[in-house]
Amino acid sequence: MGNSLRDLLFGQDRRDLATAHLPRRTFADVVLPPATRRSLDNALVQIRKHDVIFNQWGLGERHESGLGLAFNFAGPPGTGKTVCAEAIAHALGKRLLVVRYNELESQWAGATAKNVAAVFASAAEQDAVLFFDEADAIAGRRFSNVEQGYQREANAVVNVLLRELEEFSGVVIFATNLAANFDPAFERRIRTHILFEQPGPDEREMIWRVQIHARKTPLGDDVDFRALAARYPGTGGDIKNAVLKAAQMAIAEPGDDAEKRIWQRHFESSMEEVLGAKRVMDQTLFGDAASMAALAAARPGPELDEELSALASRLVEVEDAVTSMTEELRRVQRAQADALTRIDQLRGTVEAAGATAAESARTTGAAAERRSALALGLAAAAALLSALTAALTLL
Ligand SMILES: Nc1ncnc2c1ncn2[C@@H]1O[C@H](COP(=O)(O)OP(=O)(O)O)[C@@H](O)[C@H]1O
Ligand SMILES: [Mg+2]
Repeated sequence: MGNSLRDLLFGQDRRDLATAHLPRRTFADVVLPPATRRSLDNALVQIRKHDVIFNQWGLGERHESGLGLAFNFAGPPGTGKTVCAEAIAHALGKRLLVVRYNELESQWAGATAKNVAAVFASAAEQDAVLFFDEADAIAGRRFSNVEQGYQREANAVVNVLLRELEEFSGVVIFATNLAANFDPAFERRIRTHILFEQPGPDEREMIWRVQIHARKTPLGDDVDFRALAARYPGTGGDIKNAVLKAAQMAIAEPGDDAEKRIWQRHFESSMEEVLGAKRVMDQTLFGDAASMAALAAARPGPELDEELSALASRLVEVEDAVTSMTEELRRVQRAQADALTRIDQLRGTVEAAGATAAESARTTGAAAERRSALALGLAAAAALLSALTAALTLL
């Protein structure tokens, strides 16, 4: 969040916005559903091959724009999007520049767009992977009807972002929730959407395990992660919070610290607390009666998990369909552009012929009627071609 006075006097403090860090977390720290893991592996392959083509094969020197790779990590909070952005940077041996959109936003006209340009420049300078966390606000932001200053400002910011994306030759990752609704121009610049789903019981069991220290965390001998995973739904983020809470509960009990253990009851009550707090959040988010009823009916359990994963795979199919439709549309647009060029050439020819016919009808007198009829016909053809052009342009 910008401090407005400092902002005004000195401009935004760019160092706050744009320091890249060496990532510490790797793919070993994250447990993902197999489909998500595969998509991430594919993304890494794309990035590495991209590097070969554009750096070793020199194509980056021959072409100046459209060289970057942009990905979108889509999923509910706490499903590991941030950890995976770190893991990607780590796997590439690069720094990670994490940007939160609301931190770029300035109330001063034009400053937000400058901040956007600044973070791209800084990522390029540090050869960092650029990560726009909580990017929902940017994704679908352009207004088609600009009436207010803030709408013009928002459009300007997205336009700058698109331009920077076009010119950036590194890796950019956006994190959004599932409902984010992308601006079509933005969508075109994003190569791949990677879906982060809620973990199922098997993944949850492994997440419980990675959230404790394998040797140092003292566990009671009744601890059963399988049972915890089966009993409590929730994301990796929820499990992480529950583990930390359980440790606090355990250490707060009276006695010698060296004797203390985290027992199953600690994990159970901490997880209940975490999920309870989340339900309160949901109530405020979905305050109306109908969604409350839907929430109450949606009992967590295997059926819901199945339904969710069926929905997720439908979503992937829909995404594929949309991608191929976009390609189709682009082909149509290209065909249209070709048609327009040809019509234009044709009109040139017709108009020239019309002029010649009119000229000769005037000068020779003989068979003048036929020639001026021809000239009229050609003029009509030219008008028809103009109308056709107008119609095609309207499409
Ligand atoms: N799939 C996962 N496997 C292991 N830990 C996870 C996973 N997802 C989330 N976590 C834990 O929850 C914390 C928050 O996750 P984060 O990556 O910030 O989620 P998101 O960015 O999707 O909101 C992480 O620091 C990590 O400890
Ligand atoms: Mg995050």
